[in-house]
Amino acid sequence: MAICFFSAPKPITISPSTQAASAPKPLSRCNLSLPYKTLVTKADPEPIYSSVKAFAPATIANLGPGFDFLGCAVDGLGDFVSISVDPHVRPGEISISGIYGDNVKKLSKNPLYNCAGIAAIEVMKMLGVRSVGLSLSLEKGLPLGSGLGSSAASAAAAAVAVNGIFGNKLGVDELVLAGLKSEEKVSGYHADNVSPSIMGGFVLIRSYEPLDLIPLKFPMEKNLFFVLVSPDFEAPTKKMRAALPAEIGMPHHVWNSSQAGALVASVLQGDLVGLGKAMSSDIIVEPRRAPLIPGMEAVKKAAIEAGAFGCTISGAGPTAVAVTDSEQRGNEIGKQMVEAFLKGGNLKACSYVKQLDRVGARLVNSIHY
Ligand code: HSE
Repeated sequence: MAICFFSAPKPITISPSTQAASAPKPLSRCNLSLPYKTLVTKADPEPIYSSVKAFAPATIANLGPGFDFLGCAVDGLGDFVSISVDPHVRPGEISISGIYGDNVKKLSKNPLYNCAGIAAIEVMKMLGVRSVGLSLSLEKGLPLGSGLGSSAASAAAAAVAVNGIFGNKLGVDELVLAGLKSEEKVSGYHADNVSPSIMGGFVLIRSYEPLDLIPLKFPMEKNLFFVLVSPDFEAPTKKMRAALPAEIGMPHHVWNSSQAGALVASVLQGDLVGLGKAMSSDIIVEPRRAPLIPGMEAVKKAAIEAGAFGCTISGAGPTAVAVTDSEQRGNEIGKQMVEAFLKGGNLKACSYVKQLDRVGARLVNSIHY
């Protein structure tokens, strides 16, 4: 079924700005030392396991009108992080022993500059780890700069693995804050990848300071398939954020807010048509980013013509995401989108049809002493 776009104010045309879109500035950004004071002073926890392995799923951030405040997790794609107690590492510190996967050479093995390393260090600080040294190994299942929350999945897996090895003392909010610290350094201050990667399902970030996360329950009985089409093109999040306007006008605010509200309602009701329609409706961010991704406009058109309920850019791109209600239809839509990337953007692309990950980051293996 083809979905028509309903009329909206014209995409913003204010002069380009090199400044990233900014949310109202919090007084201080996630001062991690305050909430964990008690933990840090009393703790120096004993590890429960000698080693653990965690998986964290890929994510679709923004979902169209939800820039920096809506995201969801995707089943079957993601990163793994293994953490081991290592007597060769100085107590209280972490070392990265290996990074595996395609194109991982550009990732730093210095934990201070690696998204998994930064999140792991934050969790160690929160727990007050002082007597044990850890080593970390990262298996990248996600391509870098793809719009599938690659850096967030590494951070989420690392946070969950370090928490797991010490017996899961921290809660979801603390793990998200650790992941957010990593995102801030690596790609920008936004939690719409790391929250769903840790929590699974759909997540609304109601506020950053204090962090207030609202899980949005999508009905179990509904079939929701994401068609993810990733072209052979890198769109670094920092660059894609720099393309956004610093300010928007009132009509755009009203339009995008109402579409984001409709999206939340559609998720809760399991209304796929409404979800697709809302996803397709962003007039603030997508119009600035789509021209930077060769073929994106043609890909969106192709997805809708092939029967998708909606289509937009996944996160900062370049992956395009469409929604549908059957795997078979998803495969057909994906084929059309891949062709459109080739014809419209001269880019090779691959397509995946995936469902919602409702679980989020989890331990997949653990070894007791
Ligand atoms: N909300 C972020 C952005 C997600 O669009 O820049 C990046 O994956």
